[in-house]
Amino acid sequence: MYKERTSHDKFHIERVTKLAVYIALKEGANVEIVKKAAELHDLIRDSNDHAAASAREARKILKEQGYSDEFVEAVAHAIEVHSFSAKREPKTLEAKILSDADKLDAIGAVGIARAFMFSGEIGRSLEETLKHFEEKLLKLKDLLYTKTAKELAKRRHKFLLKFYKEMLEELKFTKSDLHGDRGVNRDR
Ligand code: NI
Repeated sequence: MYKERTSHDKFHIERVTKLAVYIALKEGANVEIVKKAAELHDLIRDSNDHAAASAREARKILKEQGYSDEFVEAVAHAIEVHSFSAKREPKTLEAKILSDADKLDAIGAVGIARAFMFSGEIGRSLEETLKHFEEKLLKLKDLLYTKTAKELAKRRHKFLLKFYKEMLEELKFTKSDLHGDRGVNRDR
């Protein structure tokens, strides 16, 4: 992952860690647990349940490094429940904060950029990416737990929505040119 330049590269990890630590300080959470969970949250990406796989890997690494069972479990729980698609409920403040930080990195200007990076990685079209905005990204602000994250999300969501609407307009405008069999130019 550390050589990668993708939507889930080390820069994503760095941003999520900074966001998570910032939120943890504001919310009075255990900063050490939050920081470690953020650093290790996307260890394994090539799995159909990357959160569970990353939690397992994190547990192994932290145990080897001699962390206490209590610390290891707190970190592993946060990683296990952070993913949007896994739909597992965080039981601790630290887990809620990792989930919030990861979601914040998926909205706003950075979130938009990452969505299209990811589309490039998996071969998804512009239209399909906008569908992903509808199905996931535009919903994320309502899935945040902490007050601090909700505050940070306001500006990011607003920008995301503005971009989304603008892009829909542009695509609508050019649709008939792209697909000669459809749209207003059909009968010319
Ligand atoms: Ni992540």
